Amino acid sequence: MLEQIEPLTQEAIQALEGASKLEELDQARIQYLGVNGLFTALLKQMGSLPKEDRPEAGKQINLAKKKLESILAERKEELELNAAMPNEAADFSLPGRSPSLGKRHPLTQVTHDIVRSFRKIGFAVADGPEIEDEYHCFDALNTPADHPARDSQDTFYLKTKERPLLRTHTSSVQIRVMEEQAPPIRIIVPGRVYRRDTADATHNPTFHQIEGLYVDKGVTLGDMKGTVEFVFRELLGKDVKLRFRPHYFSYTEPSLEIDFSSSLTRKMGKEWLEIAGCGMVHPKVFQAVGYDPDQWSGWAFGFGIERIAMIRYGIGDIRLFYENDLRFLRQF
Ligand code: DAH
Repeated sequence: MLEQIEPLTQEAIQALEGASKLEELDQARIQYLGVNGLFTALLKQMGSLPKEDRPEAGKQINLAKKKLESILAERKEELELNAAMPNEAADFSLPGRSPSLGKRHPLTQVTHDIVRSFRKIGFAVADGPEIEDEYHCFDALNTPADHPARDSQDTFYLKTKERPLLRTHTSSVQIRVMEEQAPPIRIIVPGRVYRRDTADATHNPTFHQIEGLYVDKGVTLGDMKGTVEFVFRELLGKDVKLRFRPHYFSYTEPSLEIDFSSSLTRKMGKEWLEIAGCGMVHPKVFQAVGYDPDQWSGWAFGFGIERIAMIRYGIGDIRLFYENDLRFLRQF
């Protein structure tokens, strides 16, 4: 009988390891280790052995059973894991299952569209700090110390020494870019700005602007007209008409305001809506950044992103952009 133990063990190992499904494994377990299985039968045969051989046979049978049980447990775990895996290989390129992945905020969507249009015609995106100093926000832009925009009723001043205000416009980034780079320059600057306004349907203490700056040799207002016309038509429709009115900004000379008219303004009950400020870069601004005003010319403009979004979507209250009411946001 002793000599049967080893071959039977090998047979059982093969059966357990060869099982490719949990049911097959269970069958092998019953066949070899079950109450009526072959190893139990061996144990039962021990009575027919000479007394002195019995302890050795019992020991060997128990050792074999232990080994088989551990193989069984291991194989069971493997097969259970296999059973839990999907039949086909996972395709990680498939879209996610979430019913709604969310969307970008309407202001972000409009900003992306504006940036995309300017990129098509060679403008790069520049960035600058929202916490600014008076020099970059006002002085270098030729804004005199007694200008009302600098008044603490219009500008948020911080108590720290080195960076004392929240920028009131993105024009400050013009200065920062020109300080860092030699011409030619062709940039736009989307960004957040701050003013001491109380919130109402058309004002908010923080809003967003896009600044533009083009500096090269022989740059003219005609270039600017073509550029802004291209972008506003892309943004607000082919029927957009622009009108340039004389205005005053300390950092441009001449300065102009841009009005626009389209089916969208008529929907809002107006023929013309003021949409941007612009002009030819003032020689004093060039001097402040170390550009020679006799060699270089340029134009700059700035407009509000909320304004564009309100016109584009027919929104009457700027505060809707900041309230994060999903019923509003889901419409875009
Ligand atoms: N900084 C102006 C504002 O906040 C907008 C502006 C006007 C920007 C004329 C310019 C410009 O670059 O040339 O209202």
